[in-house]
Amino acid sequence: MAIVQRLGYVSMGTRDLDEAVRLYSRVGRLAETERIGDTAFMTANRDHHWLRLHKAETEGVSRVGWDVGGPEGLAAACKVLDEWGLPYEEGKDPKNERVEHRVRFKDPGGMDIELFYGMYQRASSPDMHGIKISKLLHAGWASPNFYETLRFWREGMGFKLSDRVEEAAWFMHCGDRYHHGLLLQQMPVDKPVFGHLCFLVDSLDDLMRIRNHGLKSGAKLSRDILRHAPSGSVGVYFVDAARRHDFEFCYDHAQLPDDHQARILPATPEIGDIWRNDLPDPVTFVH
Ligand SMILES: [Fe+2]
Repeated sequence: MAIVQRLGYVSMGTRDLDEAVRLYSRVGRLAETERIGDTAFMTANRDHHWLRLHKAETEGVSRVGWDVGGPEGLAAACKVLDEWGLPYEEGKDPKNERVEHRVRFKDPGGMDIELFYGMYQRASSPDMHGIKISKLLHAGWASPNFYETLRFWREGMGFKLSDRVEEAAWFMHCGDRYHHGLLLQQMPVDKPVFGHLCFLVDSLDDLMRIRNHGLKSGAKLSRDILRHAPSGSVGVYFVDAARRHDFEFCYDHAQLPDDHQARILPATPEIGDIWRNDLPDPVTFVH
């Protein structure tokens, strides 16, 4: 059973809060919904936040928050954490955190995780000036203690394997059934290294507008327009240089049926982008 229902939010530390808010509003098209102390909350729909940006000496992702749907989900999660012997800290501080109830812990790879339910909802979505972003879709990071971490997310938290690229990239889905809510990458790292987060937009027009507007605003792309083989989504990746990760926008990301069979895919360029597939030699017409 899937305990995790969806990716809720990503928390990032930043030395310059205004710079980070500018990047994710100007390029990311998110709106700042509230600032509490040194924390800025940003979203593009009725969820109170998809990003938590907080002032810190260390730049970068500081926690990944997952929605477990309700009190039963959180109780089931705590039972798993007890079984795994993972210590956790439980809290209820909606006044400052804007979620009703949560637990925080480190997964077996050392990533800081929050499981919560009851995120505050806004009365209406912010006006995104022609861009429709429907969802915070997925997060991906490289993890040490790799197979134990993988086992925790699959057997403990109920993620199902969608596809994997050899032993290097494991795409997993949770309750919302999108092809991947979580991507775990196997690399030689001694602590978790956050790779990217991804927002789902409604259409190719939204994607291209956000791409072109971001470039005009001076943002850099790490990967330009491509179509991934595993999920089928079309996407672009912007660089968040200060916090050393990318943020992706994509559309046409598959939701999986119950009878989906996970595939093992080769680590070739056309798996990352099917438009890089070699074409056959040209046909010669002899007259
Ligand atoms: Fe992605």
